[in-house]
Amino acid sequence: MKMLTSFALSAVSATIVTGAAVWSGHAQRGDLIAFPTDYAKGVLYSTVDRADNKQVRHLYASPRTAIDAAKAGKPLPDGTVLTMVQFAAQLDDKGEPVKSADGRFVRTDKIVGYTVMEKRPGWGKDVPEDIRNGDWQYQAFLPDRTPNPKAALAGCFKCHKPLDKQDFVFSWEGLRTTTN
Ligand code: HEC
Repeated sequence: MKMLTSFALSAVSATIVTGAAVWSGHAQRGDLIAFPTDYAKGVLYSTVDRADNKQVRHLYASPRTAIDAAKAGKPLPDGTVLTMVQFAAQLDDKGEPVKSADGRFVRTDKIVGYTVMEKRPGWGKDVPEDIRNGDWQYQAFLPDRTPNPKAALAGCFKCHKPLDKQDFVFSWEGLRTTTN
């Protein structure tokens, strides 16, 4: 009887572990994304000042057909890679971001990290429907360009999910209006 109970229990916990793998890690395939070493050869289509974490973010798209698609109001093509480079903002002696004449933050050369989203055919097929972002996958990289082991990839999908009308991209307006 005792053995039966513990057998039943371990069967239950095995099910829970398998379920957790599917929900929290399995379908979020950040490992599919290689660090985009050529990101700077893409189009720098937007820059964002972030007061909350005192960053300046540079947003790159490649290939250029991604820009063409956004301007035409179409989903971004397969093979699109969007790379966001996060720089530390320059701070004054009170620890507040220094602003240039046009009111924008001034960046330092210090890269805090990178986030990348990339879409390829079929990449989204195993992502649970409630968080699926089409065929996009997400990855965060450390300054040394290795994957950030602390990145919570399910969080990327959840936060970008409501932007389904603009292919899950927050900076859609930047893609659509860039003259770079
Ligand atoms: C809490 C919401 C939130 C989460 C979580 C989040 N993002 Fe974003 N993401 C944003 C916002 C907002 C922007 C627009 C730029 C900005 O304001 O910094 C953005 C922009 C981006 C961009 C540039 C393309 C675009 O959509 O504008 C990439 C690439 C990106 N995020 C990747 C990631 C990755 C990878 C993760 C997970 C490690 C992640 N994001 C998690 C909110 C989020």
